[in-house]
Amino acid sequence: MEVKESKFLKSSAHIKDCPKPEKHEYAFVGRSNVGKSSLINMLTNRKSLAKTSSTPGKTQLINHFEINNDWYLVDLPGYGWAKTSKENKKVWAKFIEDYLLLRENLVCVFMLIDIRLEPQKIDVNLMGWFAEKEIPFVLVFTKADKLSNHQTIVAISKYFKILKHTWEEIPKHFITSSADKKGKEEVLEYIHELNKSVDLVK
Ligand code: GTP
Ligand code: MG
Repeated sequence: MEVKESKFLKSSAHIKDCPKPEKHEYAFVGRSNVGKSSLINMLTNRKSLAKTSSTPGKTQLINHFEINNDWYLVDLPGYGWAKTSKENKKVWAKFIEDYLLLRENLVCVFMLIDIRLEPQKIDVNLMGWFAEKEIPFVLVFTKADKLSNHQTIVAISKYFKILKHTWEEIPKHFITSSADKKGKEEVLEYIHELNKSVDLVK
């Protein structure tokens, strides 16, 4: 699938403020700084459609982007950012949790993982929560440009080996780099397939 048109729609602090749930929607979640906003820019061929920063915590709201007038991409705030105050974390958790649980047109969550890290408790817990709540998700390994091809294979197999302690089946996954556009076609093709095969409840 080619992205011909992409536009920022709005930022929302609550699910009730989000655009009408009439188009297929895909949300990017993951730890702060993992590369959610960068991946959105890579997929849409834009430099700064989604705002990125080397300082964690850049994205603070639920940000909706409309792609090809046909589907929505959502950039969410990151989690696990040590500097966020406890109070802030609570508010964050609640509005994101509401969004993830109640957003009726959310077709699939893309959970981003830094390819250089071992499975982090916070990520593994979130995967468990998605499974429990029956929220479909896939894994997207980011920053693959930081590793050689061989190191990538080693990193992924090590990740899945640890994950197999808790997961019977390994979730579908993509290997990406926003720096060199790796994984772009694969992710867009997957979204294209879901757009075609998943019917939204009207
Ligand atoms: P929050 O909004 O804070 O949750 O972060 P985020 O997940 O949206 O991360 P963001 O896209 O802002 O990227 C964080 C940092 O990682 C920036 O300095 C990016 O340039 C860098 N980065 C993101 N993706 C890649 C990648 O594929 N390769 C490399 N080398 N750097 C990346
Ligand atoms: Mg961001």
